[in-house]
Amino acid sequence: MQHGLRQLVDEVAAQLGFHGDAGDRERLGSAIEARMRSLGLGAQSDYLAILRGPGGTQELRALADALIIGETYFFRGRDHLDVLRRAWLAGPPDRRWRILSAGCSSGEEPYSIAMLADQLGLAGRIAIDAVDVSREALARAEAGEYSPWSLRDTPPEVRRRYFSEHGRRFRIDQRIRGQVRFAECNLLDRAHPLWQRAGYDAVFCRNVLIYFRPDVVESVVGRLAGLVEDGGFLFLGHSEALHTRCPEIELECEDETVFYRKHAGAAGQRSGEDWLALIDGIHRELDEGMARPRLETLPASSLVASPQAPGLSAPRTDVPGRPAPIDPVQVGRLLREERFREALGLLDAAPDDDLPSQVLRAELMFVNGDLEGAHAHCHALLARHFLEAELHQLAAMLCEQRGEPSRAVEHARRASYLDPHFAPPHVLLGRLSLRQGQPRAARTEFEAAIKRLPNEREHRLRLLSGGFGRDALLRYCESQIRACGDSR
Ligand SMILES: C[S@@+](CC[C@H](N)C(=O)[O-])C[C@H]1O[C@@H](n2cnc3c(N)ncnc32)[C@H](O)[C@@H]1O
Repeated sequence: MQHGLRQLVDEVAAQLGFHGDAGDRERLGSAIEARMRSLGLGAQSDYLAILRGPGGTQELRALADALIIGETYFFRGRDHLDVLRRAWLAGPPDRRWRILSAGCSSGEEPYSIAMLADQLGLAGRIAIDAVDVSREALARAEAGEYSPWSLRDTPPEVRRRYFSEHGRRFRIDQRIRGQVRFAECNLLDRAHPLWQRAGYDAVFCRNVLIYFRPDVVESVVGRLAGLVEDGGFLFLGHSEALHTRCPEIELECEDETVFYRKHAGAAGQRSGEDWLALIDGIHRELDEGMARPRLETLPASSLVASPQAPGLSAPRTDVPGRPAPIDPVQVGRLLREERFREALGLLDAAPDDDLPSQVLRAELMFVNGDLEGAHAHCHALLARHFLEAELHQLAAMLCEQRGEPSRAVEHARRASYLDPHFAPPHVLLGRLSLRQGQPRAARTEFEAAIKRLPNEREHRLRLLSGGFGRDALLRYCESQIRACGDSR
């Protein structure tokens, strides 16, 4: 991209809070050039003057319209609507509900919510606000007429009940239209009156944040969370949800559906502490072990009754009638020595509710070649602990082995969203992208892996990245980037 245009792209990206990859920036560059042509401008400096002048906001809006893909359809992300439906059914019958659809595009999302409420007999007790930055999308929403493509996921009975056909177009019922109030709003505009409203029982902001910079996402999510009533819901797009951390709201998961919920008082804690105690113990043991003599040179007794390593948290004490907790030092030593079968033997005795040990057990089944056992155990654990990044990475590796690449990609992506520091999912995604003939995506993944590898934990390298060590993996990623050629 030529220097002047790059400058313009930077300027516009900063003003829109736009955060995309090289391809997205190219798209932005093309949108700017198209706008300049339509305004009859030849010099980039003239366009910059417009952006910085009194008409700048309007021009940005036009660019956003050209740039943003308003792709949406009725009943998209139905699992979120099911969460809302269950909450409606569980709530008191006379309760009134306020819903916000932020980034509503041409109205399919808020109208789907209105239809669902109507089906449950809630019509008179629900108020839906819907906002978007795109005037053009809002005009389409207000018109309420759709192509069959927008109704591709709409059950036939819903189509019959709430739409009338006009040639090739479907017009939404006036009663449903009357339940949604549309307004123009740029979510980046902190002075917009939307932020004064608060008290929403559910806020939807799905597939909107994907192009925002991480700091912008955080600030928008923080403000959206502020609009949610105690006990209320915040639904983000699936990948957006996992990326986002906001102390006011808690990540929850129901039947594999991920969403946020606001609870009165402090945010609760997930079952992370035990996990960290065990894994930190193993990790430390592995790292310290690098500087120690190899195990064969140690007396055999040290394996059986290992002293507590300095700095480790005290081993958890036995509860009568319950299997003894697992000693991280001992497991760590066995892992360091790649004595995976013995480590698995130790973990076979772990209590069922000891999640960290059970996850490690599934990983060890995998490295010991028991793919069926690993698959069954991993998925049994995932059904109860859907937010565990390592389980998703293991599931991804298992899917790859079973010749299911698209499921492998899905799990590896979840793993990387759940834990932004996790290197092995990026290595796997890079490999799969290359195999699918996508060198640009592969390069991005390998670069992400290289960034994360130096601080990656030893046990995750050993168990969740095909048995390579850190240096070998770094070299592998570098060689794969070279294999991608100049695909920027
Ligand atoms: C892909 S659509 C998502 C529509 C719907 N939420 C869904 O999930 O199907 C993204 C919408 O976000 C809107 N949008 C993008 N940036 C925005 C901003 N800064 N403020 C408000 N809306 C924005 C776009 O105009 C577009 O209509």
